[in-house]
Amino acid sequence: MTDYSGFFSRDAANFRPSAIRAFAKLINDPNIISFAGGVPSPETFPAEEMAGIAERVIRERRQISLQYGPTRGLPRLCEGIARICGERSIECAPSDVIVTTGSQQALDLIAHTLLDPGDVVLVELPTYIGGSASFFARSATLAGVAQDDEGIVPESLDEVASRTKPKLLYTIPNFQNPSGRLMTQARRDAVLKLAAKHDFLVIEDDPYGELLYVEGAETTPMKSRDAEERVIYLGSFSKVLAPGLRCGWILAPAALGTQLEIAKQAADLCSGMLDQSIVDEFCATGALAPQIEKVRAFYRGKRGTLIDSLAEHFRGRAEWTSADGGLFTLVTLRDDIDTAERVSHAVARGVAFIPGGPFFVDGSGKNTMRLTFAKETDERIREGVERLAEVVG
Ligand SMILES: Cc1ncc(COP(=O)(O)O)c(C=O)c1O
Repeated sequence: MTDYSGFFSRDAANFRPSAIRAFAKLINDPNIISFAGGVPSPETFPAEEMAGIAERVIRERRQISLQYGPTRGLPRLCEGIARICGERSIECAPSDVIVTTGSQQALDLIAHTLLDPGDVVLVELPTYIGGSASFFARSATLAGVAQDDEGIVPESLDEVASRTKPKLLYTIPNFQNPSGRLMTQARRDAVLKLAAKHDFLVIEDDPYGELLYVEGAETTPMKSRDAEERVIYLGSFSKVLAPGLRCGWILAPAALGTQLEIAKQAADLCSGMLDQSIVDEFCATGALAPQIEKVRAFYRGKRGTLIDSLAEHFRGRAEWTSADGGLFTLVTLRDDIDTAERVSHAVARGVAFIPGGPFFVDGSGKNTMRLTFAKETDERIREGVERLAEVVG
């Protein structure tokens, strides 16, 4: 048998498997009430409309939908995305957009284009595992920055940046995965100032900004005030439409965009044209805004049920984020509780969650757990939290 160990690249030695995908089997067992998923509910997918659109774009536009396309994306979709960004107060042109195979590809392309081994990337404590995986895969060094209920703590960012001389900061200001937190606008301005002071670039990842459930949440991206053009903004259709249509985007300063486009040529020539054609047609028919309303309505009640149930069963024993948007709340338990050790007890009791440790690159957060309200009915959410309170906390 061939010994492959000498064949792997140096970067491959730094690949990190997702600590969350290992829990996938818990998500699909119908006997287990699952707060563990990280995926949107299939009930929110506009399947019938999509089926009609898919048939149309395949039958009537096969020269586009079934053909290779431009690396930067289907031109009309780029226009639509520039409009969406405009509605989010970001001034941009269709030529600033690069459509990607989900925003996960955007993270990989940025890491490939900007990072050398040992470069420092700052990430929030906690952060999205797919983001850290992309940076680890380029042998970057990750350093954690503290968050509180207003988002990144500027003093922590200043201190860690002074010490580590980072190239990049990766942040998810709107209803972060995994914490569900919303960064205040003042904190976003502080982040931009510190990016200028310490001369680093910012990846602003915004897949959850449209999923908001309360009045008055201020979700305007920092990209809208990016006077120095330090921010690379990422968006995605995954959470409002369907993640199986691998369709996200990058909005980058022009000189970066040129290099990212070349990296994408090498990665996949172009993102799936059928996916893009379907998303493009969906947006062009004006169906996106009502779809977003439907998705919000679908999750709003479930989110309320989860938060109310936590208040009923965990009051005084834990703290949790309010999850005014997005798909998650992060629950923080007593310091001496290691939630990873409680997973098997919980599963035996018929309830699943994701232990928070893997989201913290500094090894902290062992006493936290991520819960999603996306998957279960209100009744099962109530029952699940009651069970959870018996085995953790
Ligand atoms: C913060 C964050 N960024 C990016 C992604 C990847 O999304 P996409 O489906 O657009 O690749 C996710 C998916 O869960 C996410 O939570």
